[in-house]
Amino acid sequence: MTPHQQSLLDTAQALVADDKGILAMDESNGTCDERFAELGIPQTVESRRAYRELLITTPQLGESISGAILYDETFRQQTVEGTSFLNVLISTGIIPGIKVDLGAKALAGHPGETITEGLDGLRERLAEYSQMGARFAKWRAVITIADGLPSRSGLESNAHAMARYAALCQEAGLVPIVEPEVLMTGDHSMQRCLKVTREVWRNVFIQLNCQRVLLEGLILKPNMVLPGLSCATQATVDEVADATVNCLRETVPAAVPGITFLSGGQPCALATARLNAMNLRFKSRAPWALSFSFSRALQQPALEIWRGDAANAKAAQQALRHRAQCNRAARRGEWSEASETHAAT
Ligand code: 13P
Repeated sequence: MTPHQQSLLDTAQALVADDKGILAMDESNGTCDERFAELGIPQTVESRRAYRELLITTPQLGESISGAILYDETFRQQTVEGTSFLNVLISTGIIPGIKVDLGAKALAGHPGETITEGLDGLRERLAEYSQMGARFAKWRAVITIADGLPSRSGLESNAHAMARYAALCQEAGLVPIVEPEVLMTGDHSMQRCLKVTREVWRNVFIQLNCQRVLLEGLILKPNMVLPGLSCATQATVDEVADATVNCLRETVPAAVPGITFLSGGQPCALATARLNAMNLRFKSRAPWALSFSFSRALQQPALEIWRGDAANAKAAQQALRHRAQCNRAARRGEWSEASETHAAT
């Protein structure tokens, strides 16, 4: 292995070490503003900055969080006292990462499907982020389940774009987080989600191999295998854990160091319970770390407490720390309902 490859491997392993997980705080301005609007928080650059400052200055966050994914605007911001957000993260031992895709756009000729854009000029953007201090990046593809969807071409084009992104990241010395998200929206069964997710992961690894991506130097950020939100038959926590890990075992090479799940709109404690069950049932035999890279399932309680009011900042930070600690416990298979009621100290 070359020193360049070794450094990718070291970063990827550091992101999943010590039972810690990744804080996804890379909502685009549009998504962040939507979440603010729901709670009556002003949708301004300053509110977004103040909220992100609250998140990254949470005391002891680095005990449960290994890395944070930022959005371009946040990546360039500072605390009120003038310390760059990157330096705040680095000084608490949290590895800074950056979302680099430019969003999911309608896929021509494929009603209801999207393709994630952002490859043009990506080499130059990665060079700048790397020079500023990013050590990893993220790209999200979105797959919808519906009648006749996803199409083969939808799966293949997204997997191809994601693999091209991953190769460019590794060239720039950044660990790519590869995030193919099969959405929970719909009334499909868990079996259907399993079938689609298996096809998605197969396609992703075919393309990653074609593009000569070093598997030891990437992180997979997938959905859990779940029934659609409006499916009449919901699944138990153990059924979700079994379906998800068995699907990973069929499709994800052991060389990949870590799987960091997205939460996708699951209730916070349920996402944690499912991650806990995966580790409880499979940790000793799984070749990859089973971890988290949640946005909503880490941040939502904190956001609801904060509501744009500085007086609530401390309580909001406590809520974020609590969710991070619960998810760290889940990585060890040591979370229980009781962990939820013990407020973080
Ligand atoms: P959620 O955990 O809210 O699904 O967000 C993860 C993410 O990074 C979306 O791209």
